[in-house]
Amino acid sequence: GDKGPFLNEPPWDWSQAVHRKRFAAALEDVRKKFPMKVPLVIGGKKISVSREIHSINPNAPEEVVGIVSSAGREEAEEAILAARTTFPLWRDTDPGVRAEYLFKAANVARGMRYELAALQVFEVGKAWSEADGDVCEAIDFLEYYGREMIRLSAPQRMGQVPGEISHLFYEPRGIAVVIAPWNFPLAISMGMTCAAIVTGNTVVYKPASQSPVIGSMVSKIFEEAKLPPGVLNFLPGSGSEIGDYLVTHPQVSLIAFTGSKAVGLRIVELASKTPEGALSVKNVIAEMGGKNAIIVDADADFDEAVLHILHSAFGYQGQKCSACSRLIVLEENYDRLVDRLKAAAESLHLGSPENPQNVMGAVIDPSARQKIMEYIEIGKKEGTLLLERQVPGSGGHFVPLTIFTDIRPDHRLAQEEIFGPVLAVMKAQDFDEALAIANSTPYALTGAVFSRSPANIARAAKEFRTGNLYINRGCTGALVGRHPFGGFNMSGIGSKTGGPDYLLQFMVPRNVAENT
Ligand code: SER
Repeated sequence: GDKGPFLNEPPWDWSQAVHRKRFAAALEDVRKKFPMKVPLVIGGKKISVSREIHSINPNAPEEVVGIVSSAGREEAEEAILAARTTFPLWRDTDPGVRAEYLFKAANVARGMRYELAALQVFEVGKAWSEADGDVCEAIDFLEYYGREMIRLSAPQRMGQVPGEISHLFYEPRGIAVVIAPWNFPLAISMGMTCAAIVTGNTVVYKPASQSPVIGSMVSKIFEEAKLPPGVLNFLPGSGSEIGDYLVTHPQVSLIAFTGSKAVGLRIVELASKTPEGALSVKNVIAEMGGKNAIIVDADADFDEAVLHILHSAFGYQGQKCSACSRLIVLEENYDRLVDRLKAAAESLHLGSPENPQNVMGAVIDPSARQKIMEYIEIGKKEGTLLLERQVPGSGGHFVPLTIFTDIRPDHRLAQEEIFGPVLAVMKAQDFDEALAIANSTPYALTGAVFSRSPANIARAAKEFRTGNLYINRGCTGALVGRHPFGGFNMSGIGSKTGGPDYLLQFMVPRNVAENT
């Protein structure tokens, strides 16, 4: 039917007791199901194998959230075969019908909102509102890409020459491999997967090994929406065991990846070697990292700026590609802002996300912890430690909330992605220098400017070269359809999620000209 315009799914209003109560109840309910047993899904069949991934609660690693079947090469091959067998049927399914499956899936997900968010509190350590935001974004992708497919399914008449009718239209590429991250475990998985599905590709989806239980919810949601078997194949497994295998497989036409720069570049390299018997030259969409800066201008509103800086830097423990990891402050404000920031950061509640007052708990796993702790040591040598606040609790993968000052553009803390709650504060003499510092990393993902000067805002819009720039707002939390999301340079290749170009990457254009 007629869907009406796209609107973002509204997050829960936590001032209403009903949502607080229901969320607390959902936490108890999902916990009773632990450890959840999760099979592979290949060609619509649930398959359990003896090799397993134990998915754990980062705040309480003795708690096993799920025991998940882990695919090997054999299962990967079966998944490719299922996707291959289903492809012609799905390709030839009317795009409007394909879009309907996304709208149905959106409704299924709406019915599971509390459960889908509660699971994230345990499996990846998200605070309540962050978890809810992720679920809303997953629903947004379904609603937005469904509408986008309907828009793109109308053949475009080309030229107006008498005696010729020429049309441009789009078709799917073939088999898409989706390799997803753990930090937006439902939203980003759902976004890449449903984009591939609605455009008519068949999918082999590998969730991150840190979040396979939430990953399995993508498969469950589509199963309940009655998506034909084989269109979406759910294939958790280790990157080293099946990642390269899927990426280099001759029958795979498209790889949609979100994750680290190192893995993204590896996928680009592997996919560029066209194997014997390949069906096509592979297309890679890779969303990678960021080293995002917020600039605080001389006339900025400090009350606003401080709140947004804290949220952008420490929300979800800084584990977002969009997170603020550099704060660039004009000299005349520097001391005042640093004092305010420190006091505000000292007032944040830290601890397990089960308690809704806590804004920051454990990071995802021991290797993340190790890497972040190494950067904190580097920061202590390069700059001046302003604040290092331990997260209370024992056993979790905790790292301190950390702020350094006196960081210079050539420092590693100003150049390398840390993916944790570590903020580097840098001083700029004037707005020119602030912009130069902001642009001086290999990445170009997000950024923000707090300013009341129309001239400086206009300059920033032009010269602060990031994929997503926000004025008088933090640099995380892009909304589908409102802030098409994604960067360039070392932040990735491919066009923006939640934007009008995204689906085109999953398709090939065809032209048919008829001489009449
Ligand atoms: N889209 C998310 C954000 O904007 C990051 O992936 O924060």
